[in-house]
This record gives sequence, structure tokens and C-alpha cells, in this order.
Amino acid sequence: MKREDKSSSRPETQRLFFALWPPAELSRELYQLAGSALRGGTGRRVAPENIHLTLAFLGSVDASFRVCAEQAAAAIRATPFTLILEQMGNWSKSGILWVGPNLTPPPLLRLVRELNAGLAGCGYEAEQRPYAAHLTLARKARPRQAIPSMEPRPWEIDRFHLVQSHADGVRYEILRSWPLNSPAT
Ligand code: 2AM
Repeated sequence: MKREDKSSSRPETQRLFFALWPPAELSRELYQLAGSALRGGTGRRVAPENIHLTLAFLGSVDASFRVCAEQAAAAIRATPFTLILEQMGNWSKSGILWVGPNLTPPPLLRLVRELNAGLAGCGYEAEQRPYAAHLTLARKARPRQAIPSMEPRPWEIDRFHLVQSHADGVRYEILRSWPLNSPAT
């Protein structure tokens, strides 16, 4: 058996991302909605405590990158906003059942843009695809019927988080949080 070499030159990494995390009650409702949408079909629902909206996915990063990313997050000045979750959909190619807004609110787009700009100073390359605000509710989703429409659910957002995705991929840990503050006057 190979022994773990603590003095190995391979740097320790963590799989990190920035995200918004819904309040527990909203997550429970979304979990139930996913259950209704998948009734008669198949899919692996995301546990209520794991439901989130990703702002920027950093991947596996080392400690110095994390320090830089935290500095970038701390420098962000953004206003609190309401995100209205009003659309459920299914990306059939990737098997993702998701919920999101009809239109991404400008303050969310600004937050993502600011975060990406700050992270660029750490060597981060932002996704080239346009930002698609969504919360994944199930993976390997094969709904049996058309996804039903939903009652709009407003979500008041006043903070964002740095989150670690643990090796098993099903446990997320909020490492740090930052409030959304108006710009200093
Ligand atoms: P998803 O929910 O659409 O799968 C943690 O993995 C979070 O980062 C998930 O919300 C995931 O989005 C998002 N993410 C974005 N890009 C990713 C990638 N290349 N690999 C894994 N997760 C990614």
C-alpha cells in the first residue's frame, strides 16, 4: 500500500465555487417541486440542503488562489436584490432539471461580472458561455411529462458564499460569506 507523503510537492487543493444559498424553507419547497416534476419519470434529486445557485465555479484550487479569491470577494460592492424563481425547465442533453428566473436581474449579472473581474486578477478564466442563472434540482432527469409551470417564488438575496465541494461530490460546505453592501458613499 502506498503511504501518503505529507512532504509531497503536490499542493493541497480544494474544489471551490461561489454561490447563493436559499433559505431552508425555500429549498424544501423546491425539492418538493422537483418531486412533482419527476413524478412517473426518473432523476436524482439534489438534497434540499445542497440546492444552490452557482455564481462562479473555481474548480480545484490551491491555498494561495483561495486567499486571492477571498480578497476579490471582499472587494465586491453590490446591492441586495430579489430573485424571482418562476421557471422550471429540463436541459435534456445534460439531464438537468432546474429552476430559475425568467430574466436574470441586472444586480445578479453585475455581481457575477464583478466576481469574474476580481477573480481574473487571480488568474481565473471565467466561463465563456453567457451566464444562465439556475438552481439544479435533479440530475439524470428523465421527466415523463412536460415540466409544469410554477408559482413565482421571490428570494431575497443579501449575501453570497464561498463553498467547498467535498470529494464525494454530494456534500457542500459554506466556508465564508460576504454581505451584499451598497457602494460606500
Ligand atoms: P450545476 O448545478 O449546473 O451542475 C458545484 O459543482 C456547482 O458548480 C454546481 O452548481 C455546478 O453547476 C457548478 N459548476 C459549474 N461548472 C462546473 C464544472 N465544470 N464542474 C462541476 N460543477 C460546475
